[in-house]
Amino acid sequence: MLSQKTIEIVKSTAPVLAEKGVEITKCFYKNLFSSHPELLNIFNHANQAKGRQQTALANTVYAAATYIDQLEVLIPAVKQIAHKHRSLAVKPEHYPIVGEHLLGAIKEVLGDAATDEIINAWAEAYGVIAQVFIDVEKEMYEEATNQTGGWKDFKKFKVVKKVEESAIITSFYLEPSDKTALPAFLPGQYITIRLSIPGETNLLNRQYSLSDAAGQSTFRISVKRESECTPKGKVSNYLHDHINMGDELEVTAPAGDFVLDAEKAAPVYLISGGVGITPMMSMLKTVAASQPKTHSSFAQKIMSMLKTKETAQLNNPVTFVHAAKNGEVHAFHDEVCETIENLQNARRYFVYEQPTSEDYVKKQFNGEGYLDFEKLSSIVKEKEAQFYICGPVEFMKATVINLEKLGVAEENIHYEFFGPALNLKEY
Ligand code: HEM
Repeated sequence: MLSQKTIEIVKSTAPVLAEKGVEITKCFYKNLFSSHPELLNIFNHANQAKGRQQTALANTVYAAATYIDQLEVLIPAVKQIAHKHRSLAVKPEHYPIVGEHLLGAIKEVLGDAATDEIINAWAEAYGVIAQVFIDVEKEMYEEATNQTGGWKDFKKFKVVKKVEESAIITSFYLEPSDKTALPAFLPGQYITIRLSIPGETNLLNRQYSLSDAAGQSTFRISVKRESECTPKGKVSNYLHDHINMGDELEVTAPAGDFVLDAEKAAPVYLISGGVGITPMMSMLKTVAASQPKTHSSFAQKIMSMLKTKETAQLNNPVTFVHAAKNGEVHAFHDEVCETIENLQNARRYFVYEQPTSEDYVKKQFNGEGYLDFEKLSSIVKEKEAQFYICGPVEFMKATVINLEKLGVAEENIHYEFFGPALNLKEY
């Protein structure tokens, strides 16, 4: 329990530290990695290079400091980060290391302004915040380990199928190398893939959304090829070019809280841009699995996993909206059409930014240009629906703004940003 004095010092100095936040966290990471180079096997170097991780960590520490006397307010944000930590095998013993270097960086950047009293107050506050994370993560590790087929940390998986879904997106079907059953997961969750790439000093981790429903013998991830020399493209391009059937990868159990809320008896809109289609595929296929014409045991399993009422699922209309540059890079076209056709109450809308001449011949799309306000207002029939959005930041930003303009309530809009969590409106 923090003393009133400590709370006052932390709250009154939080704005000053926030102002220097990015400088402090940059200094923190530099010092952290020079004294603990082994941690470079956990962190994503692409996010580091862009300064995104610095911003995410700085935002969280100062938000936590602001709410230091009412930590329960932070729990939803802590849970989202804890999912990421759990999927990267972050451990309780890492917290004191991070704490030591964070305080060291505060001292280094603020100089004389960081008095002993201030540093001690922040050390105490960090301890309290870290304990909240450790406790939430402990529960998540237990949950991941205790469920049927579950495991802790990384486990070896074999690539059993590789399928080109478009000119730039390829799916990898992954099976546990020990042939054990897979755990259940919620539609929208992701896994972390860990790879050793020749010429790289450290292991590289990346998160990929699962792109099919649970209940199969494999996990499916669908990876976009990125532009060559960016750090972001290192792993995805390596997967495309060098990982083939029979190769092994290390994988963590599914995590993430951007998931379809099947308990709500409301229409569902799944809106994606580009490779943001991957979690939407899992959501669509899960709804499809819960609405079969005959009630198979698999459908019942999915429904009980989602803890939902059968009637709510059967009656929820689904609208699948996808924006792609053109037909060449549009993944899962046929799979979506087929799934939608077999659903009782579903429709789809594909919008191509720059259709090719072949797209005009095939008539595979419904709208041309961007998914703008006009298009959305013609697509959205039920404003009280639940909206799930995933895609490039600018796409999500525009879509969220347009949905709000259409009168959709903020709490009915859910989105996932690839990379460190940031507030979309501040991005
Ligand atoms: C990610 C905060 C402790 C390792 C993040 C993110 C935030 C954050 C906000 C971004 C979440 C997202 O991507 O959705 C914090 C806070 C901590 C803390 C407030 C202390 C109280 C730790 C510790 C470790 C760690 C002890 C382990 C050494 C990571 C890694 C990522 C991450 C590896 C993913 C970064 C990436 O690869 O892009 N953390 N963290 N964090 N955190 Fe922490």
